[in-house]
Amino acid sequence: MRGYFGRKTAIVAALLASTGIARAEDVEVLHWWTSGGEASALNVLKDDLATKQIGWIDMPVAGGGGEAAMTTLRARVTAGDAPTAVQMLGFDIQDWAAEGQLANLDAVAAEEGWDAVVPVALQAFSKYDGSWVAAPVNVHSTNWVWANKAMMDELGIAQPTNWDEFVAAMQKVKDSGKTALAHGGQPWQEATMFDGVVLSVGGVEFYRKAFIDLDPEALGSDQMVEAFNRMATLRSFVDENFSGRDWNLASAMVINGDAAFQIMGDWAKGEFLKAGKVPGTDFLCFRVPGTQGDVSFNSDQFAMFAQTDPAAQAAQGEMARAIMSPGFQSAFNVVKGSVPARTDVPNDAFDACGKQAMAELAEASANGTLVGSIAHGHANKAAVKNAIYDVVTANFNGEYDAATAAQNLVNAVEAAQ
Ligand code: GAL
Repeated sequence: MRGYFGRKTAIVAALLASTGIARAEDVEVLHWWTSGGEASALNVLKDDLATKQIGWIDMPVAGGGGEAAMTTLRARVTAGDAPTAVQMLGFDIQDWAAEGQLANLDAVAAEEGWDAVVPVALQAFSKYDGSWVAAPVNVHSTNWVWANKAMMDELGIAQPTNWDEFVAAMQKVKDSGKTALAHGGQPWQEATMFDGVVLSVGGVEFYRKAFIDLDPEALGSDQMVEAFNRMATLRSFVDENFSGRDWNLASAMVINGDAAFQIMGDWAKGEFLKAGKVPGTDFLCFRVPGTQGDVSFNSDQFAMFAQTDPAAQAAQGEMARAIMSPGFQSAFNVVKGSVPARTDVPNDAFDACGKQAMAELAEASANGTLVGSIAHGHANKAAVKNAIYDVVTANFNGEYDAATAAQNLVNAVEAAQ
C-alpha cells in the first residue's frame, strides 16, 4: 500500500540519493499491519528509516493476529529466502531463534543500553540464550473495552465496573434495538476476548495456572466452565453478520455508533485516532470489567533474520537501533494505540487512554499482575495457542456447551504439547 506516506518516503529517499548520500541498504519487512491505524503507525517507522537512508521493501500479509503472516514466513524461510526483518510475537521469536535463524543484536543492544530500559517481561521474548534476537516496538494489551460514549450517554449507561454490570449494560443496548458488542468472528478475535474473560473469572492466579502452567485441573475447572459460559453470553450480544468480519471493521462499528462496545487489544485505539475520535469525548477505554489491575500484554517485536551480506546486517542493526530510540518509541506508539517497550519514554505525547495504559502496565509489572496474552503468543507456544483457538471458537459458535468446552480444552492442550 503506497498512500501519501509511501510517496513521501520515496521523495525523501530520492532527494537523499540525489545528494549523493548512498542509501545504506533496503530492508524487506514482513508484517501484518494492514488496517488504517496500523498503516499510519507503520509509516512512522518507514519515514524514520528513510531519514537514515534505509529503504523499505514492504511485505504486508493481511490477517489480524499474524497467523497468515507466520505461515508466509515459514514458506519464505523454507525456500531459503527469509525477509530482512519480521514482525513477530512472543513465543514465535523463541521458536525461530531455537532454529538458529535469527541475527544476534547484542552489539547494538549494548551500545544503546537496552538491558536497562526494556522490562524483563519483554526481554524474556526478545532474547534467546542470553542474546538479543529481536527489537521490541511496543507493548499492547488485550483486556480492553472500547465504547461509543454518545450511545452510552443516550442510554444512560455508566461505565461498568464488574462483569454483571457489563452484561446489564450490553442487555440495555440490545433492548434498545442496537448492537451491543461489535465483534469479528475469527478465532484470534474470540481468543482475544477470552484473555479478558478468563481474567474476569479468576484473576492472574487462575490465568497463570491454566494458560502458562497448562495445569489440567485449572483447564478443566468449574472456573473454566464459567469462562466459557461468559463467552456464550458475549455471543448473545453480537450482530448476525459477525462471522468473518475483520477486527478493524468491528472497531468501525463502535466508531460510527453502530455498536456500543468492542473487546479488543489497544490496536483498536489506532482506528479511533485515525478516524479523528478523542478519548473521553467520542469513546471510552476501560479494562474488561472485573480485570481492573490486571494486564494481559503482547509486544510487537522485529526479529532480524540472519543475513550473509554485511550491508544487510548493517541495515538490520540500524533498523533495530531506530526502533528502540526513545523518540521513535513515542511517535510510533502514539499512533499505534500501544505503549513504548522502553520504560524511560515520557508519556507527554500520549492521550488519556495511552497515559492510562502506561500507568497500568507499570503497576501490573510491579504488582505481579502482568500476564502474557494467550491469544497473541505470549502465554504459550503456537501449537498450544492454536489448540486453544479451536476450542474457544467452537464454543463461541455453539458447537458445544461450556462444560464440554472445558473438557475439550484439557484434551486439546495436552495433545498440543
Ligand atoms: C496483534 C499485533 C497488533 C495488531 C493486531 C491486529 O497480534 O500485536 O500489532 O497487529 O494483532 O492485527
